[in-house]
Amino acid sequence: MNPITWEEFYLRNAAPSDLESRKKEIQSFCQKFEPSDLRVVLITSGGTTVPLEHNTVRFVDNFSAGTRGSASAEYFLKAGYAVIFMHRYKSLEPFSRHFSGNELLDSIQVLKDDSLQVDPAKAPVLLPILKDRKEALDSGRLLMVNFTTLTEYLWILRASAEAMACLNSRAMLYLAAAVSDFYVPPEKMPEHKIQSTGGPPEISLQLVPKMLRPLVADWVPKAFVISFKLETDPSLLVSKSQEALKNYRHKVVIANELHSRKSRVTLVTPNSHHEIVLSKEELDAGVEIEERIINDLVEQHTSAMTTLN
Ligand code: PMT
Repeated sequence: MNPITWEEFYLRNAAPSDLESRKKEIQSFCQKFEPSDLRVVLITSGGTTVPLEHNTVRFVDNFSAGTRGSASAEYFLKAGYAVIFMHRYKSLEPFSRHFSGNELLDSIQVLKDDSLQVDPAKAPVLLPILKDRKEALDSGRLLMVNFTTLTEYLWILRASAEAMACLNSRAMLYLAAAVSDFYVPPEKMPEHKIQSTGGPPEISLQLVPKMLRPLVADWVPKAFVISFKLETDPSLLVSKSQEALKNYRHKVVIANELHSRKSRVTLVTPNSHHEIVLSKEELDAGVEIEERIINDLVEQHTSAMTTLN
């Protein structure tokens, strides 16, 4: 069955109540960089939820933790980009991603006089992360925007893309979020919590229209757009990525397979494709594949900007 059109999706699924204020924040972030020659990247990160009830108790979710997006944000900041980090609420974020559980609290010691001291053994790890974070915040180059549901994600994606249009070819969109392809339309959703006394529920999911199409063609037509393709069968990766490039006419698809995604990706463009692979030694030494991906994309963005301008 064909999905509804993207226009219909926005007509049938109400915008989040605070969309206008969020839109303004994103617009002023982009306008701040309009007169400069700084490049701005929108990174989407983490998974979207699909609520099963209007008063949501249960929802469909996916595996994405936001590792790819949050690491990439740090490397884009290092490369001099301003970053709109559009992430799933409570998923991994740049800088804090390096610490899990009580790791950060454990690195601070309480001394006898009740003063605090950073554990000298942990300081060399903490210092560069804190310095990079301070630089990003002081320079005003990082905007954090969060979402939870699929509908919220799609409304904010559109608002962000439209706000970035003023940046022309300096805008980049790096769509790493794991966005649900299926949802329960509002008219099919029960108002209250589904009761187990009614027996096993029959939940009919419907297709979500691919928003890459209007995003590339209408919302931000001069931007350098990169989408991701996730498969569990590696033999499908390149052909499906090429198909996506043909359909949506964007610049790059980063193809990754679920289990090897931290050590191997394929960058597919309309005319070629190449792999980025980390060796076991590099992984053990803490090299992150996002650093290589971002170096590659920054070069591609530079050459695309030269041809366009
Ligand atoms: O967060 P991690 O745990 O590090 O995992 C990272 C990742 C594996 C999630 C990431 O590397 C990745 O592959 N993300 C994209 C996964 C995905 O949703 O693929 P897809 O085939 O469903 O969608 C392909 C593209 O279409 C995506 O870039 C998406 O932005 C876009 N899309 C999706 C749904 C939709 N309705 N409209 C869209 O335009």
